[in-house]
Amino acid sequence: MLLIYNLCTVLILCVSVKAYYNVIARTDEENNFISRSTEIPKYVPTWSSLDNRSLPSWYDDAKLGIFIHWGVFSVPSFGSEWFWNNWKEETKSVYVHIFFFYELGELAEAIRNKTDIRFGLYHSLYEWYNPLYITDKKNNFTTDRFITHKIMPELRELVETYKPEIIWSDGDWEASDTYWKSKEFLAWLYNESPVKDTVVVNDRWGSNMPCHHGGFFTCSDRFNPGVLLPHKWENCMTIDKKSWGFRRNAALSEYYTLAGLVKELVITVSCGGNLLMNVGPTKDGIITPIYEERLRGIGAWLAVNGEAIYDTKPWTVQNDTLTGSVWYTISKNEKQLFASILEWPDNNILSLGSLKLSTNSQIYLLGYSSVIPWKQSNDKLEINLPPNAHKGQPAWVLKIEIFQSVHTSY
Ligand SMILES: *[C@@H]1O[C@H](CO)[C@@H](O)[C@H](O)[C@H]1NC(C)=O
Ligand SMILES: *[C@@H]1O[C@H](CO)[C@@H](O)[C@H](O)[C@H]1NC(C)=O
Ligand SMILES: *[C@@H]1O[C@H](CO)[C@@H](O)[C@H](O)[C@H]1NC(C)=O
Ligand SMILES: *[C@@H]1O[C@H](CO)[C@@H](O)[C@H](O)[C@H]1NC(C)=O
Repeated sequence: MLLIYNLCTVLILCVSVKAYYNVIARTDEENNFISRSTEIPKYVPTWSSLDNRSLPSWYDDAKLGIFIHWGVFSVPSFGSEWFWNNWKEETKSVYVHIFFFYELGELAEAIRNKTDIRFGLYHSLYEWYNPLYITDKKNNFTTDRFITHKIMPELRELVETYKPEIIWSDGDWEASDTYWKSKEFLAWLYNESPVKDTVVVNDRWGSNMPCHHGGFFTCSDRFNPGVLLPHKWENCMTIDKKSWGFRRNAALSEYYTLAGLVKELVITVSCGGNLLMNVGPTKDGIITPIYEERLRGIGAWLAVNGEAIYDTKPWTVQNDTLTGSVWYTISKNEKQLFASILEWPDNNILSLGSLKLSTNSQIYLLGYSSVIPWKQSNDKLEINLPPNAHKGQPAWVLKIEIFQSVHTSY
């Protein structure tokens, strides 16, 4: 499976491993990780060495990814007239994972040629019915023929051929990182691969690894802790709350609303995560109107409020101490604080307890032209929101300039 990126836009294409089974299975090399370079490798296959690599910054800046579960069809039109072209302009910064089966090379090339997107890779380690895997499992994973004859040659070939800049590993849960040879693979990936400087990986590299080792942490599906985590993490979730693939019988209530999706994004980013949203096209590759509507909705919201998301970092406080449905992010230069309002206050007055403004501070509501009046008292900041800005938005963002940041405890 395969991914794509640019500085702002990341499209992740994922190829079914099955399609590669015959093409890639290579049995002539037992050890694929003998270093060919004469330099001393920077990383060695231990977690203390691999975890020491800093995550390439483009990933943290991107914040939002789209994961597309594709069916059995080719998508030659994908690189051209698709609505993604418009959508990514609206949203500026997304990465997209797509599963599909055929024409990978052609697609990869078309996307490289015609868009400024880069590739990445979704890869499932686990293959239930592979005879090599079944044998290794019977041997309590004391043998590794599946890894040396299948997984490692395949991963390495995918990286060398398609130069993915995300490797989103999955299917690791039945065996340890030692069986999967994950550390050896990552050392090669970080030291020698054609994407060694830009690639990012997740944490699904062995039954004992998720949330502990690797690049960004995914922990479990739909992971959204609601508190700041010290390590970069990703909330991988589905717009259809019940499925990663398209379901013809899904009920409307089983899809996230636009407000629900924006809420996931806002909370995730405030707590230092990236959001990876799964979209399920039909088996003919159609993004049905419900998904299109949600994606366009997110795009439209980001077109106005993206400043609060992209290129930001978490603040000292994640949600406000008085109004817990307000979530903060701060610009990298720390000159602008963003407060995302998930619930509009009944009387149009928003009370915030986590900051104290100096008199020269200014508050703006993104998408609204005039400055917003406010009043600072000892125990709270009161902001008079313009009632006419309250028009069914999924969330609103205040941009606060020149503030004394107080992590208050009045
Ligand atoms: C971690 O990185 C720092 C600086 O890049 C380096 O000095 C240190 O030796 C590294 N530690 C390990 C265990 O590789
Ligand atoms: C991509 O660009 C190369 C070099 O310009 C060209 O030879 C190739 O045909 C292009 N491929 C596609 C699929 O557009
Ligand atoms: C695998 O482990 C089980 C349970 O620990 C044991 O009964 C079995 O004999 C082991 N099989 C092999 C091939 O070592
Ligand atoms: C902040 O958000 C968390 C997680 O949603 C919630 O449990 C907590 O009550 C919120 N804080 C306040 C002050 O409402």
